[in-house]
Amino acid sequence: MALDYKLVIWNSFKKQYDKIIAVSMLLYIVVFAIVTFTFNPESSIETLIIRAFGSLAIVMLHIILAIGPLSRLNDQFLPILYNRRHLGVSMFFAALVHGGFSMFQFHALGDVHPIYSLFASNMDYNSLINFPFQVLGFLALLILFAMAATSHDFFLANLSARVWKRLHMLVYVAYVLIIAHVFLGTFQQETSPFTIGFLILGFITISGLHLAAAFKERKTDSNKTEEDEGWIKVCTVDEIENDRAKVFKLANDRVAIFKYDGKLAAIHNVCKHQGGPLGEGKIIDGCVTCPWHGYQYLPNNGQSPPPYTEKVATYQLRLKDAIIYINPNALEEGTEVEPVYF
Ligand code: HEM
Ligand code: FES
Repeated sequence: MALDYKLVIWNSFKKQYDKIIAVSMLLYIVVFAIVTFTFNPESSIETLIIRAFGSLAIVMLHIILAIGPLSRLNDQFLPILYNRRHLGVSMFFAALVHGGFSMFQFHALGDVHPIYSLFASNMDYNSLINFPFQVLGFLALLILFAMAATSHDFFLANLSARVWKRLHMLVYVAYVLIIAHVFLGTFQQETSPFTIGFLILGFITISGLHLAAAFKERKTDSNKTEEDEGWIKVCTVDEIENDRAKVFKLANDRVAIFKYDGKLAAIHNVCKHQGGPLGEGKIIDGCVTCPWHGYQYLPNNGQSPPPYTEKVATYQLRLKDAIIYINPNALEEGTEVEPVYF
């Protein structure tokens, strides 16, 4: 097995990731400064800071956007998914240094408020090419701020997983704003064409990965089911690996059927934490373990083991001639169901 789920929930590993993020960011800035001063010795330190942190933020944003689809395509990326939030907050700080320095450099030295200056110094709002690109960066920064400020599990619990997820999906709006910011900025400030090349390549890569992940998900959804007197025929016992699940789409719900210790049990596929795909997890210590951040649920009742209180819906199964049938009506979250023995 390439992936050890214990690593995903292991704290010192998390600290290692944080160190890797910090060292990589530092290294990027140092290399950027060396390359800038080697090829362009007249560069001012302010411009260097603005460009180094702006480009660092956009590189990090691409990595963040790639982690989701990559981990859906290949299990080995899952441990990185666990640390995506820390990467997101670090990216926000890089963007903040870039935006803050730009605000200082271009808007704080006059006699009007910097925010007023940002919106009013270029009023070409009707122009496509001369549109005030810094305003777009500012709006993106506000979104990144909202995401970084609510990244802690405290907000996840208090805002509800649905609202939290919607808020965090705004990262795609921020991405579009930033692409427009950099494209227009490059035209208006005559910065390096390398930036545009990177953005185009980045956009193609991110869209390609998302499409590939969506294609894989559709393939899972097309796992064949057949109806028999209200029960849905799904697959044979042999088709499910031990301590693993197979996922089926029933009407609007995805259900994960787990096989473990000579038993079969079915639960709703969506983790209560951040909607992770439980059917891509495995059974560890008798519990279904979410592949994203390690939340656990008992397969026979969909309840997280005490002291945790999360619950997912369960489903009744039947076995006839080694063929598994499922009752498509979800039972209330946390309902005990006698597992089917094979
Ligand atoms: C208050 C918000 C922001 C302001 C005022 C701002 C301002 C600027 C300015 C003035 C430039 C041109 C710099 C130059 O080439 O001399 C620029 C470029 C850039 N900005 Fe922003 N920005 C903001 C937010 C952001 C955010 C949130 C990101 C990304 C996460 C970002 C990424 C970039 C990138 C990648 C460049 C191109 C840098 C390069 O050419 O090397 N900016 N921005
Ligand atoms: S989504 Fe975070 S543990 Fe399941």
